[in-house]
Amino acid sequence: MTEPLYRLADATLVEPLVQDFQAWWMTVAPMPASLHLQAYLVPLLKAYLQTPDFHAKAAKDPMLSGSSFVGVPQERADEVRALLQRITVQQGERLKLAEAFDEFQNQLLAEAKGQSLEPLYSRLPDVLKGKVELVYDYVNRPSMRVHEGLLYRGPHHQTDIQSLRLRRLKADAERDSLLTTPRLRGPGQVDWKVPFHDERLDRLFSLDIEPRPLGWIRDVLGDAVASDAELLPLLSEAPQALPETWTGATPRVRYVGHACVLVEWKGKSVLIDAVVPVRPEEQGPLPRISFAQLPRRIDYVLITHSHPDHLDIETLLRLRQRIGTLVVPRSSGALAGDYSPRLLARSLGFRDVLEPYFYESLPLPDGEIIAAPFMGEHGDVAHAKTAWIVRTGPERLFFAADSMCVDEVTYRDLRATVGDLHTVFMNTEIEGAPHTWMLEGFFPKKRDRKLEKNRRCRGSNSAEGLRILELVGARRLFNYAMGLEPWMEHIIGPAATPETPRMKESERLLAAARERGLQAERLQGAQEVHLRA
Ligand SMILES: [Fe+2]
Ligand SMILES: [Fe+2]
Repeated sequence: MTEPLYRLADATLVEPLVQDFQAWWMTVAPMPASLHLQAYLVPLLKAYLQTPDFHAKAAKDPMLSGSSFVGVPQERADEVRALLQRITVQQGERLKLAEAFDEFQNQLLAEAKGQSLEPLYSRLPDVLKGKVELVYDYVNRPSMRVHEGLLYRGPHHQTDIQSLRLRRLKADAERDSLLTTPRLRGPGQVDWKVPFHDERLDRLFSLDIEPRPLGWIRDVLGDAVASDAELLPLLSEAPQALPETWTGATPRVRYVGHACVLVEWKGKSVLIDAVVPVRPEEQGPLPRISFAQLPRRIDYVLITHSHPDHLDIETLLRLRQRIGTLVVPRSSGALAGDYSPRLLARSLGFRDVLEPYFYESLPLPDGEIIAAPFMGEHGDVAHAKTAWIVRTGPERLFFAADSMCVDEVTYRDLRATVGDLHTVFMNTEIEGAPHTWMLEGFFPKKRDRKLEKNRRCRGSNSAEGLRILELVGARRLFNYAMGLEPWMEHIIGPAATPETPRMKESERLLAAARERGLQAERLQGAQEVHLRA
Protein backbone atom coordinates (compact mmCIF):
# COMPACT_ATOMS: atom_id res chain seq x y z
CA MET A 1 0.00 0.00 0.00
CA THR A 2 1.38 3.44 -0.87
CA GLU A 3 1.78 5.95 1.89
CA PRO A 4 -0.84 8.72 1.87
CA LEU A 5 0.40 12.13 0.81
CA TYR A 6 -0.71 15.34 2.46
CA ARG A 7 -0.83 18.99 1.58
CA LEU A 8 -1.89 21.93 3.75
CA ALA A 9 -5.68 21.87 4.03
CA ASP A 10 -7.55 24.62 2.17
CA ALA A 11 -8.58 26.20 5.48
CA THR A 12 -5.11 26.10 7.05
CA LEU A 13 -3.91 29.57 7.80
CA VAL A 14 -0.26 30.17 8.64
CA GLU A 15 0.24 33.50 10.38
CA PRO A 16 3.76 34.86 10.83
CA LEU A 17 3.98 36.40 14.30
CA VAL A 18 6.39 38.62 16.16
CA GLN A 19 5.78 37.87 19.81
CA ASP A 20 2.09 37.18 19.15
CA PHE A 21 1.53 40.25 16.97
CA GLN A 22 1.11 39.64 13.28
CA ALA A 23 4.19 40.42 11.20
CA TRP A 24 4.17 43.57 9.10
CA TRP A 25 6.95 46.05 8.53
CA MET A 26 6.14 47.91 11.75
CA THR A 27 6.73 44.78 13.81
CA VAL A 28 9.68 43.37 11.82
CA ALA A 29 11.99 46.13 10.48
CA PRO A 30 14.22 46.92 13.49
CA MET A 31 13.99 50.71 13.85
CA PRO A 32 10.32 51.09 12.84
CA ALA A 33 9.43 48.09 15.03
CA SER A 34 11.25 49.58 18.01
CA LEU A 35 9.58 52.97 17.66
CA HIS A 36 6.17 51.41 17.02
CA LEU A 37 6.48 49.16 20.05
CA GLN A 38 7.35 52.03 22.34
CA ALA A 39 4.92 54.64 21.01
CA TYR A 40 1.97 52.46 20.02
CA LEU A 41 1.84 48.78 20.98
CA VAL A 42 2.96 49.00 24.61
CA PRO A 43 0.64 51.96 25.42
CA LEU A 44 -2.17 50.14 23.55
CA LEU A 45 -1.79 46.99 25.63
CA LYS A 46 -1.64 49.07 28.81
CA ALA A 47 -4.83 50.90 27.82
CA TYR A 48 -6.51 47.56 27.14
CA LEU A 49 -5.59 46.28 30.59
CA GLN A 50 -7.35 49.29 32.15
CA THR A 51 -10.68 48.52 30.44
CA PRO A 52 -10.51 45.15 28.68
CA ASP A 53 -14.23 44.77 28.26
CA PHE A 54 -14.59 48.18 26.65
CA HIS A 55 -11.74 47.40 24.24
CA ALA A 56 -13.09 43.97 23.31
CA LYS A 57 -16.52 45.44 22.46
CA ALA A 58 -15.14 48.50 20.64
CA ALA A 59 -12.82 46.31 18.53
CA LYS A 60 -15.88 44.52 17.13
CA ASP A 61 -17.82 47.71 16.41
CA PRO A 62 -17.67 48.45 12.65
CA MET A 63 -18.33 52.14 13.37
CA LEU A 64 -15.01 52.28 15.23
CA SER A 65 -13.00 50.51 12.54
CA GLY A 66 -9.47 51.88 12.25
CA SER A 67 -9.41 52.91 15.93
CA SER A 68 -6.95 51.49 18.43
CA PHE A 69 -8.75 48.76 20.34
CA VAL A 70 -7.50 45.35 21.35
CA GLY A 71 -10.05 42.69 20.42
CA VAL A 72 -9.23 40.22 23.19
CA PRO A 73 -12.16 39.15 25.42
CA GLN A 74 -11.97 40.28 29.02
CA GLU A 75 -11.60 36.73 30.34
CA ARG A 76 -8.24 36.50 28.58
CA ALA A 77 -6.90 39.80 29.93
CA ASP A 78 -4.41 37.96 32.14
CA GLU A 79 -2.81 36.51 29.03
CA VAL A 80 -2.42 40.02 27.65
CA ARG A 81 -0.85 41.11 30.94
CA ALA A 82 1.62 38.23 30.66
CA LEU A 83 2.32 39.10 27.02
CA LEU A 84 3.05 42.71 27.95
CA GLN A 85 5.43 41.47 30.60
CA ARG A 86 7.24 39.25 28.10
CA ILE A 87 7.42 42.07 25.55
CA THR A 88 8.97 44.40 28.10
CA VAL A 89 11.65 41.85 28.93
CA GLN A 90 12.35 40.21 25.57
CA GLN A 91 12.09 43.38 23.51
CA GLY A 92 13.78 45.50 26.15
CA GLU A 93 16.64 46.40 23.79
CA ARG A 94 14.16 47.64 21.20
CA LEU A 95 12.40 49.77 23.80
CA LYS A 96 15.73 51.26 24.91
CA LEU A 97 16.64 52.05 21.30
CA ALA A 98 13.30 53.78 20.76
CA GLU A 99 13.57 55.82 23.95
CA ALA A 100 17.08 56.93 23.07
CA PHE A 101 16.04 57.84 19.52
CA ASP A 102 13.12 59.85 20.77
CA GLU A 103 15.11 61.68 23.39
CA PHE A 104 18.05 62.47 21.17
CA GLN A 105 15.78 63.66 18.40
CA ASN A 106 14.27 66.17 20.82
CA GLN A 107 17.75 67.33 21.84
CA LEU A 108 18.68 67.75 18.21
CA LEU A 109 15.59 69.80 17.49
CA ALA A 110 16.28 72.02 20.51
CA GLU A 111 19.99 72.56 19.93
CA ALA A 112 20.94 72.03 16.30
CA LYS A 113 20.26 75.30 14.54
CA GLY A 114 22.66 75.07 11.63
CA GLN A 115 25.99 74.93 13.52
CA SER A 116 28.28 71.92 13.09
CA LEU A 117 26.80 68.66 14.36
CA GLU A 118 30.22 67.15 15.04
CA PRO A 119 30.27 67.84 18.84
CA LEU A 120 26.93 66.09 19.23
CA TYR A 121 28.31 62.65 18.31
CA SER A 122 30.01 62.36 21.70
CA ARG A 123 26.66 62.96 23.37
CA LEU A 124 24.85 60.21 21.49
CA PRO A 125 23.42 57.62 23.90
CA ASP A 126 25.43 54.38 23.70
CA VAL A 127 22.60 52.47 22.08
CA LEU A 128 22.59 54.92 19.15
CA LYS A 129 26.36 55.22 18.70
CA GLY A 130 27.45 53.83 15.35
CA LYS A 131 23.87 53.36 14.24
CA VAL A 132 23.01 56.85 13.05
CA GLU A 133 24.47 59.74 11.13
CA LEU A 134 23.46 63.24 12.15
CA VAL A 135 22.42 65.30 9.15
CA TYR A 136 20.77 68.55 8.21
CA ASP A 137 18.54 69.20 5.27
CA TYR A 138 19.37 72.29 3.20
CA VAL A 139 17.42 74.61 5.47
CA ASN A 140 19.21 73.38 8.60
CA ARG A 141 16.57 71.05 10.02
CA PRO A 142 18.42 68.27 11.82
CA SER A 143 17.60 64.58 11.75
CA MET A 144 19.16 61.15 12.19
CA ARG A 145 19.88 58.89 9.29
CA VAL A 146 19.73 55.28 10.44
CA HIS A 147 22.23 52.60 9.36
CA GLU A 148 19.42 50.14 8.79
CA GLY A 149 21.58 47.38 7.37
CA LEU A 150 23.56 47.30 10.63
CA LEU A 151 20.41 47.04 12.73
CA TYR A 152 19.43 43.87 10.87
CA ARG A 153 22.74 42.37 12.03
CA GLY A 154 22.37 43.26 15.70
CA PRO A 155 20.15 42.62 18.74
CA HIS A 156 17.32 44.85 17.50
CA HIS A 157 16.51 42.43 14.71
CA GLN A 158 14.86 39.81 16.85
CA THR A 159 14.42 36.59 14.94
CA ASP A 160 14.13 34.78 18.29
CA ILE A 161 10.62 36.18 18.77
CA GLN A 162 9.46 35.26 15.27
CA SER A 163 7.13 32.29 14.89
CA LEU A 164 4.46 30.79 12.68
CA ARG A 165 1.00 29.99 13.97
CA LEU A 166 -0.80 27.22 12.06
CA ARG A 167 -4.54 26.95 12.47
CA ARG A 168 -7.73 26.06 10.70
CA LEU A 169 -9.76 29.11 9.78
CA LYS A 170 -13.48 28.75 10.15
CA ALA A 171 -14.44 32.09 8.64
CA ASP A 172 -12.61 35.25 7.55
CA ALA A 173 -14.38 37.17 10.32
CA GLU A 174 -12.49 35.09 12.89
CA ARG A 175 -9.40 37.12 12.14
CA ASP A 176 -8.95 40.12 14.44
CA SER A 177 -7.27 43.33 13.39
CA LEU A 178 -3.70 42.70 12.32
CA LEU A 179 -2.71 46.12 13.62
CA THR A 180 -4.09 46.06 17.13
CA THR A 181 -4.88 42.57 18.37
CA PRO A 182 -2.34 39.97 19.46
CA ARG A 183 -2.93 36.40 18.36
CA LEU A 184 -3.41 34.55 21.65
CA ARG A 185 -3.12 30.86 21.04
CA GLY A 186 -6.39 28.91 20.82
CA PRO A 187 -7.22 25.21 20.86
CA GLY A 188 -6.01 23.18 17.88
CA GLN A 189 -3.42 25.80 16.94
CA VAL A 190 0.22 24.92 16.39
CA ASP A 191 2.99 27.31 17.37
CA TRP A 192 6.20 26.88 15.43
CA LYS A 193 9.15 28.87 16.79
CA VAL A 194 11.09 29.52 13.63
CA PRO A 195 12.79 32.60 12.22
CA PHE A 196 11.13 33.85 9.07
CA HIS A 197 14.29 33.48 6.98
CA ASP A 198 14.64 29.78 7.86
CA GLU A 199 14.58 27.48 4.82
CA ARG A 200 12.31 25.03 6.66
CA LEU A 201 9.47 27.44 5.78
CA ASP A 202 10.03 26.64 2.12
CA ARG A 203 9.76 22.95 2.88
CA LEU A 204 6.49 23.43 4.76
CA PHE A 205 4.97 25.64 2.08
CA SER A 206 6.14 23.36 -0.73
CA LEU A 207 3.18 21.25 0.43
CA ASP A 208 0.98 23.73 -1.45
CA ILE A 209 2.45 22.40 -4.68
CA GLU A 210 3.69 18.94 -3.77
CA PRO A 211 2.04 16.69 -1.19
CA ARG A 212 4.28 14.63 1.13
CA PRO A 213 3.98 11.80 3.63
CA LEU A 214 3.10 12.60 7.24
CA GLY A 215 6.54 11.63 8.56
CA TRP A 216 8.20 14.11 6.21
CA ILE A 217 5.94 16.90 7.48
CA ARG A 218 6.55 15.92 11.12
CA ASP A 219 10.28 16.18 10.45
CA VAL A 220 9.94 19.71 9.13
CA LEU A 221 7.90 20.93 12.10
CA GLY A 222 10.00 19.13 14.70
CA ASP A 223 8.94 19.80 18.30
CA ALA A 224 6.19 22.19 17.25
CA VAL A 225 3.70 19.33 16.99
CA ALA A 226 3.28 16.85 19.79
CA SER A 227 1.28 14.22 17.90
CA ASP A 228 -0.23 13.27 14.57
CA ALA A 229 -3.62 14.05 16.07
CA GLU A 230 -2.56 17.68 16.39
CA LEU A 231 -1.22 17.85 12.86
CA LEU A 232 -3.79 15.94 10.82
CA PRO A 233 -6.63 18.51 11.00
CA LEU A 234 -4.26 20.99 9.34
CA LEU A 235 -3.63 18.67 6.39
CA SER A 236 -5.59 17.27 3.50
CA GLU A 237 -5.21 14.18 1.34
CA ALA A 238 -7.50 15.52 -1.37
CA PRO A 239 -5.56 15.94 -4.63
CA GLN A 240 -5.45 19.25 -6.43
CA ALA A 241 -4.07 20.26 -9.78
CA LEU A 242 -2.04 23.39 -10.20
CA PRO A 243 -2.83 25.51 -13.27
CA GLU A 244 -0.88 24.96 -16.48
CA THR A 245 1.65 27.61 -17.46
CA TRP A 246 0.00 30.20 -19.67
CA THR A 247 1.76 30.41 -23.00
CA GLY A 248 -0.95 32.26 -24.93
CA ALA A 249 -0.20 35.02 -27.40
CA THR A 250 -2.36 37.45 -25.43
CA PRO A 251 -1.81 38.21 -21.76
CA ARG A 252 -3.97 36.39 -19.27
CA VAL A 253 -4.96 38.65 -16.39
CA ARG A 254 -6.52 37.23 -13.27
CA TYR A 255 -7.75 39.28 -10.35
CA VAL A 256 -6.98 37.70 -6.98
CA GLY A 257 -8.75 40.39 -4.95
CA HIS A 258 -8.12 43.87 -3.50
CA ALA A 259 -4.85 45.06 -5.15
CA CYS A 260 -3.57 41.62 -6.09
CA VAL A 261 -3.45 40.83 -9.81
CA LEU A 262 -1.75 38.00 -11.70
CA VAL A 263 -0.50 38.69 -15.22
CA GLU A 264 0.70 35.75 -17.30
CA TRP A 265 2.40 36.22 -20.59
CA LYS A 266 4.49 33.97 -22.82
CA GLY A 267 5.35 31.52 -20.06
CA LYS A 268 6.11 34.20 -17.45
CA SER A 269 3.98 35.17 -14.50
CA VAL A 270 3.89 38.46 -12.62
CA LEU A 271 1.95 38.87 -9.39
CA ILE A 272 1.29 42.40 -8.19
CA ASP A 273 0.72 43.24 -4.48
CA ALA A 274 0.51 39.61 -3.43
CA VAL A 275 -2.20 39.19 -0.79
CA VAL A 276 -3.62 35.68 -1.17
CA PRO A 277 -6.37 34.23 1.02
CA VAL A 278 -6.83 30.69 2.30
CA ARG A 279 -10.24 29.03 1.93
CA PRO A 280 -11.92 29.03 5.33
CA GLU A 281 -14.46 26.34 6.15
CA GLU A 282 -17.22 28.89 5.59
CA GLN A 283 -15.93 30.91 2.72
CA GLY A 284 -19.02 32.78 1.52
CA PRO A 285 -20.17 33.27 -2.06
CA LEU A 286 -17.32 35.42 -3.37
CA PRO A 287 -14.95 33.38 -5.60
CA ARG A 288 -11.35 33.25 -4.44
CA ILE A 289 -7.99 32.24 -5.79
CA SER A 290 -5.87 30.57 -3.14
CA PHE A 291 -2.33 29.25 -3.13
CA ALA A 292 -3.09 26.12 -5.16
CA GLN A 293 -4.66 28.15 -7.98
CA LEU A 294 -1.52 30.21 -8.54
CA PRO A 295 1.22 29.09 -10.94
CA ARG A 296 3.82 26.69 -9.58
CA ARG A 297 6.45 29.31 -10.37
CA ILE A 298 5.87 33.06 -10.10
CA ASP A 299 8.63 34.85 -11.94
CA TYR A 300 8.10 38.29 -10.45
CA VAL A 301 6.20 39.63 -7.48
CA LEU A 302 5.86 43.42 -7.63
CA ILE A 303 5.05 45.41 -4.50
CA THR A 304 3.68 48.96 -4.80
CA HIS A 305 4.09 50.08 -1.17
CA SER A 306 4.23 48.87 2.40
CA HIS A 307 0.62 49.37 3.52
CA PRO A 308 -0.24 45.89 4.75
CA ASP A 309 -3.05 45.50 2.19
CA HIS A 310 -0.27 45.57 -0.42
CA LEU A 311 2.82 44.15 1.27
CA ASP A 312 1.64 41.06 3.12
CA ILE A 313 4.39 39.13 4.88
CA GLU A 314 2.03 36.19 5.42
CA THR A 315 1.55 35.73 1.67
CA LEU A 316 5.16 36.48 0.76
CA LEU A 317 6.55 33.84 3.11
CA ARG A 318 4.10 31.24 1.90
CA LEU A 319 4.99 31.90 -1.74
CA ARG A 320 8.72 32.47 -1.18
CA GLN A 321 9.96 29.21 -2.71
CA ARG A 322 7.79 29.78 -5.79
CA ILE A 323 8.92 33.37 -6.41
CA GLY A 324 11.79 34.14 -8.79
CA THR A 325 12.41 37.83 -8.10
CA LEU A 326 10.75 40.05 -5.55
CA VAL A 327 10.59 43.62 -6.80
CA VAL A 328 9.97 46.28 -4.16
CA PRO A 329 9.81 50.07 -4.07
CA ARG A 330 13.03 51.94 -3.32
CA SER A 331 13.31 54.06 -0.19
CA SER A 332 15.42 57.16 0.28
CA GLY A 333 16.52 56.13 3.77
CA ALA A 334 16.51 59.80 4.79
CA LEU A 335 13.74 59.37 7.37
CA ALA A 336 13.49 56.65 10.00
CA GLY A 337 10.05 55.78 8.65
CA ASP A 338 11.24 55.66 5.05
CA TYR A 339 12.62 52.22 5.79
CA SER A 340 13.99 49.85 3.18
CA PRO A 341 11.55 47.21 1.88
CA ARG A 342 14.56 45.53 0.27
CA LEU A 343 16.31 44.97 3.59
CA LEU A 344 13.03 43.77 5.06
CA ALA A 345 12.60 41.28 2.20
CA ARG A 346 16.17 40.07 2.62
CA SER A 347 15.50 39.48 6.31
CA LEU A 348 12.46 37.43 5.28
CA GLY A 349 14.74 35.08 3.39
CA PHE A 350 14.31 36.46 -0.14
CA ARG A 351 17.59 36.27 -2.00
CA ASP A 352 16.67 37.91 -5.28
CA VAL A 353 15.24 41.33 -4.42
CA LEU A 354 15.29 44.32 -6.74
CA GLU A 355 14.37 47.94 -6.05
CA PRO A 356 14.40 49.71 -9.39
CA TYR A 357 14.45 53.47 -9.73
CA PHE A 358 11.47 55.08 -11.45
CA TYR A 359 11.63 54.52 -15.23
CA GLU A 360 14.01 51.56 -14.91
CA SER A 361 12.83 48.49 -16.78
CA LEU A 362 13.07 44.73 -16.21
CA PRO A 363 12.76 42.47 -19.25
CA LEU A 364 9.88 40.11 -20.05
CA PRO A 365 9.67 38.14 -23.32
CA ASP A 366 8.44 40.72 -25.83
CA GLY A 367 7.61 42.96 -22.90
CA GLU A 368 8.94 44.58 -19.74
CA ILE A 369 8.16 45.78 -16.26
CA ILE A 370 8.68 49.51 -15.71
CA ALA A 371 8.85 51.25 -12.34
CA ALA A 372 6.70 54.39 -12.36
CA PRO A 373 6.09 57.19 -9.87
CA PHE A 374 3.36 56.52 -7.31
CA MET A 375 2.14 59.95 -6.27
CA GLY A 376 0.28 60.89 -3.08
CA GLU A 377 -1.48 58.69 -0.50
CA HIS A 378 1.19 59.13 2.19
CA GLY A 379 0.28 62.49 3.70
CA ASP A 380 3.28 64.21 2.06
CA VAL A 381 5.73 62.06 4.02
CA ALA A 382 8.55 60.41 2.04
CA HIS A 383 8.04 56.68 1.74
CA ALA A 384 9.04 53.91 -0.62
CA LYS A 385 6.28 53.50 -3.21
CA THR A 386 6.24 52.56 -6.85
CA ALA A 387 3.47 52.10 -9.39
CA TRP A 388 4.18 49.39 -11.96
CA ILE A 389 3.69 49.18 -15.70
CA VAL A 390 3.63 45.68 -17.17
CA ARG A 391 4.05 45.68 -20.96
CA THR A 392 2.99 42.58 -22.80
CA GLY A 393 3.76 43.13 -26.49
CA PRO A 394 1.93 46.30 -27.53
CA GLU A 395 -0.31 46.26 -24.44
CA ARG A 396 0.53 48.29 -21.32
CA LEU A 397 -1.08 47.62 -17.96
CA PHE A 398 -0.63 50.30 -15.30
CA PHE A 399 -0.95 49.28 -11.66
CA ALA A 400 -1.41 52.62 -9.95
CA ALA A 401 -2.56 51.14 -6.59
CA ASP A 402 -3.66 54.01 -4.32
CA SER A 403 -2.09 56.77 -6.42
CA MET A 404 -3.47 60.25 -6.32
CA CYS A 405 -3.21 62.75 -9.13
CA VAL A 406 -1.37 65.50 -7.26
CA ASP A 407 0.62 66.53 -10.31
CA GLU A 408 -0.72 66.12 -13.81
CA VAL A 409 2.69 66.51 -15.39
CA THR A 410 3.86 63.26 -13.80
CA TYR A 411 1.31 61.33 -15.84
CA ARG A 412 1.82 63.36 -18.99
CA ASP A 413 5.56 62.63 -18.77
CA LEU A 414 4.90 58.98 -18.11
CA ARG A 415 2.88 58.64 -21.29
CA ALA A 416 5.32 60.69 -23.34
CA THR A 417 8.21 58.52 -22.16
CA VAL A 418 6.84 54.98 -22.17
CA GLY A 419 3.76 55.30 -24.42
CA ASP A 420 0.03 54.99 -23.85
CA LEU A 421 -0.99 53.11 -20.71
CA HIS A 422 -3.98 51.30 -22.14
CA THR A 423 -5.26 49.65 -19.00
CA VAL A 424 -5.26 51.34 -15.60
CA PHE A 425 -5.88 49.70 -12.23
CA MET A 426 -6.60 52.28 -9.52
CA ASN A 427 -8.73 52.87 -6.46
CA THR A 428 -10.96 55.74 -5.34
CA GLU A 429 -10.25 55.84 -1.61
CA ILE A 430 -11.16 59.48 -1.10
CA GLU A 431 -11.09 59.61 2.69
CA GLY A 432 -7.89 57.92 3.84
CA ALA A 433 -6.32 57.89 7.27
CA PRO A 434 -4.49 60.85 8.87
CA HIS A 435 -0.84 61.07 7.85
CA THR A 436 0.28 59.93 11.31
CA TRP A 437 -1.99 56.85 11.49
CA MET A 438 -0.03 53.78 12.62
CA LEU A 439 3.13 55.85 12.24
CA GLU A 440 2.87 57.41 15.70
CA GLY A 441 6.37 56.19 16.53
CA PHE A 442 7.95 58.51 13.99
CA PHE A 443 6.10 61.66 14.99
CA PRO A 444 6.52 63.81 18.11
CA LYS A 445 4.22 62.84 20.96
CA LYS A 446 2.40 66.17 20.87
CA ARG A 447 0.84 66.33 17.46
CA ASP A 448 -1.16 68.92 15.60
CA ARG A 449 -4.69 67.49 15.25
CA LYS A 450 -5.60 70.16 12.72
CA LEU A 451 -2.84 68.94 10.43
CA GLU A 452 -4.06 65.38 10.83
CA LYS A 453 -7.44 66.44 9.47
CA ASN A 454 -5.81 68.22 6.61
CA ARG A 455 -3.20 65.65 5.54
CA ARG A 456 -4.95 62.44 4.61
CA CYS A 457 -3.52 59.30 3.04
CA ARG A 458 -6.09 59.24 0.29
CA GLY A 459 -6.23 58.04 -3.28
CA SER A 460 -7.77 59.83 -6.25
CA ASN A 461 -11.31 61.15 -6.30
CA SER A 462 -13.33 60.69 -9.47
CA ALA A 463 -12.17 63.93 -11.09
CA GLU A 464 -8.51 63.22 -10.31
CA GLY A 465 -8.90 59.61 -11.42
CA LEU A 466 -10.49 60.66 -14.67
CA ARG A 467 -7.63 63.08 -15.25
CA ILE A 468 -5.09 60.26 -14.82
CA LEU A 469 -7.02 58.17 -17.35
CA GLU A 470 -7.02 61.03 -19.85
CA LEU A 471 -3.38 61.92 -19.30
CA VAL A 472 -2.03 58.39 -19.77
CA GLY A 473 -4.27 57.63 -22.77
CA ALA A 474 -6.23 54.84 -21.07
CA ARG A 475 -8.83 52.75 -22.88
CA ARG A 476 -9.74 50.64 -19.86
CA LEU A 477 -10.21 51.27 -16.16
CA PHE A 478 -10.33 48.63 -13.50
CA ASN A 479 -11.30 50.14 -10.17
CA TYR A 480 -9.65 47.91 -7.56
CA ALA A 481 -8.04 47.93 -4.10
CA MET A 482 -11.38 49.00 -2.66
CA GLY A 483 -11.45 46.71 0.38
CA LEU A 484 -14.39 44.64 -0.86
CA GLU A 485 -13.20 41.14 -0.06
CA PRO A 486 -13.97 39.55 3.30
CA TRP A 487 -10.44 38.15 3.53
CA MET A 488 -9.07 41.70 3.72
CA GLU A 489 -11.09 42.74 6.75
CA HIS A 490 -8.46 41.92 9.37
CA ILE A 491 -6.15 44.29 7.48
CA ILE A 492 -8.40 47.16 6.40
CA GLY A 493 -11.62 46.80 8.37
CA PRO A 494 -15.19 46.09 7.27
CA ALA A 495 -15.91 45.76 3.55
CA ALA A 496 -17.29 48.87 1.88
CA THR A 497 -21.04 49.15 1.21
CA PRO A 498 -22.69 51.15 -1.61
CA GLU A 499 -23.04 54.02 0.89
CA THR A 500 -19.33 54.20 1.71
CA PRO A 501 -17.84 57.40 0.24
CA ARG A 502 -15.17 55.51 -1.73
CA MET A 503 -17.89 53.41 -3.37
CA LYS A 504 -19.96 56.44 -4.34
CA GLU A 505 -16.80 57.96 -5.78
CA SER A 506 -16.11 54.71 -7.62
CA GLU A 507 -19.59 54.86 -9.22
CA ARG A 508 -18.92 58.42 -10.35
CA LEU A 509 -15.55 57.52 -11.86
CA LEU A 510 -16.89 54.44 -13.63
CA ALA A 511 -19.79 56.39 -15.10
CA ALA A 512 -17.54 59.23 -16.27
CA ALA A 513 -15.05 56.78 -17.81
CA ARG A 514 -17.81 54.89 -19.63
CA GLU A 515 -19.21 58.16 -20.92
CA ARG A 516 -15.85 58.73 -22.55
CA GLY A 517 -15.99 55.32 -24.22
CA LEU A 518 -13.65 53.43 -21.87
CA GLN A 519 -14.18 49.89 -20.71
CA ALA A 520 -14.71 50.59 -17.00
CA GLU A 521 -15.32 47.94 -14.34
CA ARG A 522 -14.99 47.56 -10.62
CA LEU A 523 -13.30 44.36 -9.54
CA GLN A 524 -14.38 42.33 -6.55
CA GLY A 525 -13.35 38.82 -5.58
CA ALA A 526 -11.32 36.51 -7.80
CA GLN A 527 -12.14 36.83 -11.47
CA GLU A 528 -10.72 36.71 -14.96
CA VAL A 529 -10.03 40.23 -16.25
CA HIS A 530 -11.02 40.56 -19.90
CA LEU A 531 -9.27 43.28 -21.83
CA ARG A 532 -11.75 44.34 -24.47
CA ALA A 533 -10.48 45.90 -27.66
FE1 LIG B 1 -2.00 52.46 0.47
FE1 LIG C 1 -4.40 50.23 -0.40
